[in-house]
Amino acid sequence: MNEDRRIIRYREFLVARDKAADLLRHRLAKREAFFDDLARRPVRSSAPVDRATYFRNMARRRPEHGLEPRMLWILATAKANQAERFGVGLAELLGCVNADDSARVHVALQETYHTRMLADVVAMFGLSVSVRPPRAFVRLMIHLMVSAPERWTLPLVGASEMVGCVLFRALRDKRVELFADEPAVAERIRLLYNEILADEIGHVGFIAARLDEHGRSMTRRLYARLASTLASQFSEIDALFGSSEMARRFSAFHLADAAAELPNLAFAAAQI
Ligand SMILES: [Fe+2]
Ligand SMILES: [Fe+2]
Repeated sequence: MNEDRRIIRYREFLVARDKAADLLRHRLAKREAFFDDLARRPVRSSAPVDRATYFRNMARRRPEHGLEPRMLWILATAKANQAERFGVGLAELLGCVNADDSARVHVALQETYHTRMLADVVAMFGLSVSVRPPRAFVRLMIHLMVSAPERWTLPLVGASEMVGCVLFRALRDKRVELFADEPAVAERIRLLYNEILADEIGHVGFIAARLDEHGRSMTRRLYARLASTLASQFSEIDALFGSSEMARRFSAFHLADAAAELPNLAFAAAQI
């Protein structure tokens, strides 16, 4: 079989980035080393956090009015974790991870690490992520994406990976103003969010490489139509950024630029 050069290069990139992948134990060798390193240098925010407000709002679909921006940011991070965990768990439950394809194994394991990284971000504030499913619309979308045949859903998965890139990038950037008084916290957030963002950029590029021009244009159209609907499901992000800022970020997203921003971390096998 004559496999696409771009996918072969992506596979090589993944092995260099993650080293050995162990699907059964949910481990990527280099990620484990990354977490071990971070554990040796723990970072904890000393800013007071209203735990009761956090847990009360984690149980709500929409945040209460008047929450301070930091609280909205932490809630947005925790809820992004819920959506990721739901997708990862369901894909595994339904046996959707093709163990014969090393690129897909890496991608699935990277998603598992994202939930851990997002939980680690929340833990810096002395909080935990409660085990709850994401909102119904997000659940429905995820369910559709992991259970329907790939040829139907690949553009949809691609579009939502693009949305993920924009959301994670926006949350990462927001640290600069929100956590300016705690540089170590802001730096740890940058480090963790960049890992996630770099992976998501790779996922979009991997999907683009598997699609033909028709599929890629469908992905772009779905993204243009779905971006704001999907993002509005994360009400905290809406409250934090405002819908016009998010709309601006969605239309400005460009995969090659996003990859160029993270030169040693991200690789987009193809453009969308
Ligand atoms: Fe992810
Ligand atoms: Fe992804």
